[in-house]
Amino acid sequence: MVIAVYPGSFDPVTYGHLDIIYRASSSFDQVIVGVLCNSAKSPLFSGEERVNILKKVTDDIPNVTVKQFDGLSVNFAIENQAGVIVRGLRAVTDFEYELQMAQTNRVLAPNVDTIFLTTSLEYAYLSSTTMKEVAAFGGDISKFAPPLVVEAIRDKMNL
Ligand code: PNS
Repeated sequence: MVIAVYPGSFDPVTYGHLDIIYRASSSFDQVIVGVLCNSAKSPLFSGEERVNILKKVTDDIPNVTVKQFDGLSVNFAIENQAGVIVRGLRAVTDFEYELQMAQTNRVLAPNVDTIFLTTSLEYAYLSSTTMKEVAAFGGDISKFAPPLVVEAIRDKMNL
């Protein structure tokens, strides 16, 4: 049984994240999406809100669960008996940061491996930050995230 964690900020989840979650769920027995709540970033959505949104948009995938976590991703992996951390790679600009993080994590926890899934081409440009910026200026974000996420952003931004 191979358990994978997919840690991230997910503020909020996009179709790019969902693409990684779906693909990871077909490669691993169990995928636990970890929502980091103690990040230095000031998120638009609270940890609980991000978890609730993720739970709703993944409720059709039986081997995916969603949890909130604080602290190190490797500790979240170890606490959940996961041998794998999944991360999505969009472009070469992601690579340096992701490589450094994967190598640091491997030093901290040699039994936990990071596996990268390259983001599907149609979502290669997409990030939660871009989506929030487009929304804030009144742009159409319906191609970036499921309708309930679009609605949650509109409510949060009073659009
Ligand atoms: O969605 P993001 O913001 O790209 O996710 C980044 C995340 C949460 C995976 C990363 O910041 C992280 O793992 N933070 C927890 C602290 C940690 O474990 N740092 C890694 C040591 S370099």
